[in-house]
Amino acid sequence: MSNPKKKKEILNQPLEFELAILGGRVIDPESRFDRIADIFVHDGLIKEISSRKTTTRIGAKEVIDAKGKIVVPGLIDMHAHLREPGREDEETIYTGSCSAVAGGFTSVCCMPNTEPPIDNQEAVKFVYVKAKEAKCKIVCVGAVTKGEKGEELTEILDLVQAGVVAISDDGKPVSSSQVMRNALEYCKMFNLPIISHCEDLNLSSGGVMHEGFVSTSLGMNGIPSIAEEVMVARDLKLAEFTGGRVHIAHVSTQGSVDLIREAKKRGIKVTCETTPHHFTLTDESVKTFDTNAKVNPPLRTRKDVEAIKKGLKDGTIDSIATDHAPHSVEEKEVEFDFAPFGMVGLETAFGLVVTELVNKKILTWPQAIAKLTINPSRILNLKGGRIKRDFPADLTIIDPKASWIVNPSQFKSKSKNSPFGGKKLRGRVCYTIVDGKIVFP
Ligand code: DOR
Repeated sequence: MSNPKKKKEILNQPLEFELAILGGRVIDPESRFDRIADIFVHDGLIKEISSRKTTTRIGAKEVIDAKGKIVVPGLIDMHAHLREPGREDEETIYTGSCSAVAGGFTSVCCMPNTEPPIDNQEAVKFVYVKAKEAKCKIVCVGAVTKGEKGEELTEILDLVQAGVVAISDDGKPVSSSQVMRNALEYCKMFNLPIISHCEDLNLSSGGVMHEGFVSTSLGMNGIPSIAEEVMVARDLKLAEFTGGRVHIAHVSTQGSVDLIREAKKRGIKVTCETTPHHFTLTDESVKTFDTNAKVNPPLRTRKDVEAIKKGLKDGTIDSIATDHAPHSVEEKEVEFDFAPFGMVGLETAFGLVVTELVNKKILTWPQAIAKLTINPSRILNLKGGRIKRDFPADLTIIDPKASWIVNPSQFKSKSKNSPFGGKKLRGRVCYTIVDGKIVFP
C-alpha cells in the first residue's frame, strides 16, 4: 500500500498535514493490509499510509497516538431507523448521527419507514438537507411502494436521481410477488439493491416473539421461523428469475442462512445482513417480559444463533447492521403484547461484535471489520469502507482491550430501548473521524 517513491516525495516536502494517526494497527480488509502504520490526512483525504518509523520531518496540526489501538475504515451501518420526519421525539437525523459516531460509525443508511415514508423525491431531498447538519454521512433508502402499502411502486427513477442507495419497505414485507418482481426488474437498470424485510404476514400475524418452547411456556403468540424463510425462498427465486439484486435484511433463522448459502452457490445475486442482537441473544431474553427484547424479526433459539455465527464465519452473511430502532419510553413501557418492535443498536454494535465474535474466535479482526465496512460499502455502491490514498479520511480508532458496561441512560440516541443495559462489553471506540475531522469524542 505504501509507495516508496511517493514517500520520498512527501519527506522532501515541508508538508503540514492536518492530522496524523501514529503507530496503530491499521486494518483495511479490502487491500488485506494489517500492519502497524501511520496515517496522514489532508484536506479530508487519506494522503499517506506508511509502515516506516515516524520522523519528525512530517508535521501535522493534530496528532493521535494510536499505539495499542486498531485503526479501521469508518464503520458503515447499512440499516438504521432515524425516525425523521415524523417521530422526532424518538430520534432525529442529527441525534441519530451523534449516536452513530459514538458507536464508531461514519456512515449510516436510514430506512424509509418514517411518517410519512420516504417514498418520493421531495422526501429524499428533505433527508439530505437534514443530513448536512449530521455528525456523520447519511445515505438514504427509498421506499419500494407508495406509502409502504405494498401496492404501487414508487417512482424509482426519481428516487435514484435524488440519491437513494437502495430501496426497501423495511418494517414491512413487500407481500405481493408481482410487485416484488416488478421492483427487481426495474432496479436492475440502476444496479440498485432491494433490501427485503422477509416476513409472511399470514404466518406471523398476531405474534410477538419467536414461536417455540419459550413462547409456549409463556403463553405468548409466536412468529414462526417459517414466516421469514418462505419469503427468503420467494425472494431468492424472484432474484434468480429477474436477475435483480436482493439484499435480505436482518437474517434471524438457521433456515434463512441455509437458503442464502445455497442461492449464493447457484450464483443468484443475493447479499444479506444480520444484527448484533440476532447473534447475541435468544428468545430466553423475553422470559423477563423486557419489552426492549421485543424485536422484529424476533430473537430466535440457540440453534439459530449458532447458524448465524456459522453464516458469518463462512461468508454467507455479508454484513452486520444495527437495525437501530428507537422507541419512546411511553410506548415501550406497556404490556409486552402492545409494545412496538425494535431496539436501539448504534452504540452497542461494535462492542457486541468484539465481545461475541472476535473474542470468541468466530471472526478474525479483518473479517469482522469487513462486515462493518467494505462489504456494506460494496452492496450500496458507496465510496467509504476503505483506507486508501486519496479516499475520504473516514476512520475509526478502537481500543480492542478496553471493557465497559452498557448504560443506556448515557446513550447519545434520544431513545434508550436497549436490552443490553448492564452487559459488560469489550472493545471501545476511541475516535471517530469523518472527512478528516474528529467527530467523536
Ligand atoms: O424491530 C423492528 N423495528 N423491526 C423492523 O423491521 C422495523 C423496526 C422499526 O422501525 O421500529
